[in-house]
Amino acid sequence: MNADTKKLISNQYGRVNAAPIERCRVNFCTDMEKSVLMSNFERRGWNQVGQDEEWNFYWASTQTCRNLFSVESGYRMNDNQMINHFPNHYELSRKDLLVKNIKRYRKELERESSPIAEKAEVILPGGQVANRYVHLDFIPVTFVLPADYNMFVEEYRKSPQSTWIMKPCGKSQGTGIFLINKLSKLKKWSREAKAPFHPQLSKESYVISRYIDNPLLIGGKKFDLRLYVLVTSFRPLKAYLFQLGFCRFCTVKYDTSVTELDNMYVHLTNVSVQKHGGDYNNIHGGKMSVENLRLFLEGTRGRAVTEKLFSAMQWLIVHSLKAVSSVMANDRHCFECYGYDIIIDDQLKPWLVEVNASPSLTSTTVNDRIMKYKLIDNMISVVLPPDGIPDVRWNKTPSPEALGNFDLLIDEELLEKEDVTCTGRTFKGHKSRN
Ligand SMILES: Nc1ncnc2c1ncn2[C@@H]1O[C@H](COP(=O)(O)OP(=O)(O)O)[C@@H](O)[C@H]1O
Ligand SMILES: [Mg+2]
Repeated sequence: MNADTKKLISNQYGRVNAAPIERCRVNFCTDMEKSVLMSNFERRGWNQVGQDEEWNFYWASTQTCRNLFSVESGYRMNDNQMINHFPNHYELSRKDLLVKNIKRYRKELERESSPIAEKAEVILPGGQVANRYVHLDFIPVTFVLPADYNMFVEEYRKSPQSTWIMKPCGKSQGTGIFLINKLSKLKKWSREAKAPFHPQLSKESYVISRYIDNPLLIGGKKFDLRLYVLVTSFRPLKAYLFQLGFCRFCTVKYDTSVTELDNMYVHLTNVSVQKHGGDYNNIHGGKMSVENLRLFLEGTRGRAVTEKLFSAMQWLIVHSLKAVSSVMANDRHCFECYGYDIIIDDQLKPWLVEVNASPSLTSTTVNDRIMKYKLIDNMISVVLPPDGIPDVRWNKTPSPEALGNFDLLIDEELLEKEDVTCTGRTFKGHKSRN
């Protein structure tokens, strides 16, 4: 390593990496020329090549990745190639499959009489009693339509005053989502939409989930969390949580009145929805850091409950990953960064809303750009071996310095080897309950 690669590299984004950057030649390829990506690759002195050339590191869209892994492509990766998606990431990122996998995982644990699958009776808002998982009740009750229509109706009748949210499985950014508070509305929609309830006529399926109608509000506004989770292996499971997640706020005050049911500025926290609202603020972009949320909650609710909430979020992430680990194609060339959408209710219980395999890398504010730049930078450091050259034979155990703003969530290999002495506050919640 020569002298100038040893010093800290600072640029327009500030001092971004305490570790010296190796000026090694990595050939990267991408079909998404996002500035946070390109500036990271450039700073590392990487060389851009085309898909048909000899690349080591591919940042691809999910579609390109699927094509590459398809049988027809006949492409075989060598040991020095890495790519940013697992071929069947949709097991986690499709709304219907996520629910299906979590339901299956809970059943499996129940069959094994695992204490994690313990159940207890809870009283529903309508006064009925339901049997719910104590530790694995982290997704709102959800059904896939049209397939589970009868089951949905049965559940609906238990508490007819509840609100439900309909979401198309294959869409994102709030597209096609609506709320319903009456079965008749769903029936009307089904009649008018013609195809959706006839699987032969339409590929489009929906999930219908219990609407979390008691979200935690700050300044009277609903928000959700966007957390970034990096997975470098599913078997054994190795996952990291990025500390710099953020809250995404609605631009208007939360209001549960029926007249506001169709007002998406009240109910959907997607930036892609809120930025069209008249009250959207370009400076902070309706965002607040997770660290500020933690401070706010410590100040208003106390440290203990805040700690419990953050532990519960780590627990939820780890178990959502465990739910898919057996069905994921655990290709050694792959890593993936997931965008977790989580809603916290007013009892400080976190709910998993969905997992995105291509979280947006577009920056809406200056802070956003700095954060996303770091996300990519830290991610590359975690997934590459110490010499900076992709190599699938490496044991995927990054040094503590390589983690940057990532905290280890779980490393099953380490857990197996030793009674792990995982440091970092994010690990506590998980270990104590497992
Ligand atoms: N069950 C729910 N309860 C309350 N709000 C929800 C629920 N599901 C989704 N939302 C809101 O709708 C937004 C979009 O839903 P999401 O499942 O993330 O779909 P998309 O792929 O369109 O982002 C979420 O960010 C959240 O604000
Ligand atoms: Mg979302």
